[in-house]
Amino acid sequence: MPTITTRNFLKTSSLLVAGLVLAACGKQEPPSPSASAPAPAPAAAPAPPPAAKVYVVGTDAAYAPFESQNEKGEIVGFDIDVVKAAAEKAGIEVKFLNTPWEGIFNSVAQGDRDLLVSSITITPERKQTLDFSDPYFDAQQLIAVKNDSKIAKFDDLKKLKVGVQNGTTGDEVITKLQGKESANVKRFESTPLALKELEGGGVDAVVADNGVVVHYVNNNPGSKFKTIADSSFASEQYGIAVKKGNAELLEKINKGLAAIKTDGTYNQIYTKYFGSAPAAAGAATPASAAAPAPVAAASK
Ligand code: ARG
Repeated sequence: MPTITTRNFLKTSSLLVAGLVLAACGKQEPPSPSASAPAPAPAAAPAPPPAAKVYVVGTDAAYAPFESQNEKGEIVGFDIDVVKAAAEKAGIEVKFLNTPWEGIFNSVAQGDRDLLVSSITITPERKQTLDFSDPYFDAQQLIAVKNDSKIAKFDDLKKLKVGVQNGTTGDEVITKLQGKESANVKRFESTPLALKELEGGGVDAVVADNGVVVHYVNNNPGSKFKTIADSSFASEQYGIAVKKGNAELLEKINKGLAAIKTDGTYNQIYTKYFGSAPAAAGAATPASAAAPAPVAAASK
């Protein structure tokens, strides 16, 4: 059994003491140049500026043309371009992280994401837990059915099987029509999954945001869908969400949004995705003035 001799003990402890002294000295670094006046001329190149904060933007990238992943796995789309452009004007750096719709609101509440852009409709209910930017896009629900369907209006869906993305405004409207207990509302993780189910005949209709439905129908002629608009659907507006109370970031985003609307960048992005500039009043006008421009524009 090894024994500690007095000599060894002293050796070890004096080493320890020396270490502690060194450690303590290490903490007493000279004050930073900015604090010490007058500052001596820097011997070497000045320290690089602290790395800028990169704001993490969560998005459910299964929602073309607003947010989706391209073949390279990059997150692209209208929302992405809008946020990138607004961030540039605001002088902030952003990066996008694919974030499932389910739990997306929590991710910002918990601080895992700083911002959310995900075609999120600003609703009074969501405003209780999140703060929203000024609106940047007008939308409305739209119904997708098979070409040969007899369904002609929203009310026809009362007793039919309807697919929606879980927890979206589409889910809300159909749940209201059919009642909370209805077993005919089929809730999917993503909107494309709901549309796939329609293709397979598992549901009679899908209710989702117009821009996404139109884009899908145009890009999947093989699925033989048609769309049905209904005047009973309320106007919706998309906003960028931040954690409740994050006024500083919200102000930056709103400034950026305002700047891209004034200098034409917003219209350029809009035209890139929807074929023409937004209708006269433009997006981000009060709901009362909103026109269902995206459908007409996107259906060419
Ligand atoms: N606008 C709808 C809502 O806010 C649907 C948004 C879904 N977005 C998405 N990226 N999946 O409820």
